[in-house]
Amino acid sequence: MVKTIIVGAGAISYCHAEALTKLGIKIIGIYDINRESATKLATLYSTFVIDDFELAVKEADIVHICTPPSFRIQYAKIAMEAGCHVVMEKPMAITLKDAEILNALMKKNNRKLMIDFNHRFRYGFQRLLDIVKSGVIGDVINVYVNRMGMLGENAGTKKDTWRRNLTTVCGMSIESLSHDIDMIIQLAGPIASVKADIRGTYEDIPQFDNNVNVCFNLKNGAMGLINASWSSYLKSSSRGIIGTEGSVVLDGDDLFDFSRLRLRTKDMAHEEIYMLNDIYNFATCPSYYNANKYFIECILNDLNPSTSGEYALSTLKVSHAILESAKSQQTIQL
Ligand SMILES: NC(=O)c1ccc[n+]([C@@H]2O[C@H](COP(=O)([O-])OP(=O)(O)OC[C@H]3O[C@@H](n4cnc5c(N)ncnc54)[C@H](O)[C@@H]3O)[C@@H](O)[C@H]2O)c1
Repeated sequence: MVKTIIVGAGAISYCHAEALTKLGIKIIGIYDINRESATKLATLYSTFVIDDFELAVKEADIVHICTPPSFRIQYAKIAMEAGCHVVMEKPMAITLKDAEILNALMKKNNRKLMIDFNHRFRYGFQRLLDIVKSGVIGDVINVYVNRMGMLGENAGTKKDTWRRNLTTVCGMSIESLSHDIDMIIQLAGPIASVKADIRGTYEDIPQFDNNVNVCFNLKNGAMGLINASWSSYLKSSSRGIIGTEGSVVLDGDDLFDFSRLRLRTKDMAHEEIYMLNDIYNFATCPSYYNANKYFIECILNDLNPSTSGEYALSTLKVSHAILESAKSQQTIQL
């Protein structure tokens, strides 16, 4: 039986714990700097709170790192040196230097590292990707993401944890846009350059960028746009591709809802509409199950995960280019 330890018992750890349990992977313990958080998760999944991570890791095959992104290296190092493969939440790190250290650790210890870009494992996104890959909409001319919400209902009031703590702060360009950057690369290929504008609504936390517009060019000549807000009081999501032979849009009423897919090619008299009802709900979303199942397959078949550390570093470079462009008001080549 495959055994894992979860480090960081916050919101996202519950999605992994549920998925791992369904997959028959044994969670041998939970570690968190906050013992109360570890106890809550451990109790729910009938496992133990870990006091000595270095000791406990010797019994594990995998470690799931669900901490805030600035606290990954210390756990990844101990885990990989003890022979464990590692799953970590996105973004893999805040700085490029940390991401490079993580990749060096992975190579040195010859372990597998998967970053959980879980939206790519959802049914709605897979439908969109299948349509684009099938060629029915031709070559991609324009790929776009327009999404609003998340912190909107708490905008300006929520005193939250690491996201707005000055020592651990990580804004939307690095944290949340990592998903959009991943999905755009899947749909249309690598990004060549970015030109961005950012408006943060927290004057005292400029690193917490919560409104981002990015125009980009892809290496294949297509163009694109990301328009995202964490401070919007209204929620919405729309991701689409305009191709030479047709267009397709995946949309919904919350920032990551993939409720409806619309398709029209040049040969169709009318658009086709598919109701997918792929709502992003932490408790029920199967993407964490799919992602963890995929990682186990990678381990068993000795495959490099498609969302490896090297790949995640390439997406983090796009996030940093967005921040640099917004600051310098220049187009940044990647
Ligand atoms: N895939 C997704 O869609 C998705 C959604 C939400 C969050 N995330 C990612 O998951 C990660 C965690 O986010 P969250 O929302 O669960 O945060 P959270 O604040 O709810 O949980 C973080 C947990 O880590 C613990 N922690 C903090 N510092 C630690 C340390 N040094 N050592 C051990 N434990 C520590 C905290 O006590 C807390 O229990 C982030 O990287 C975030 O971007 C991904």
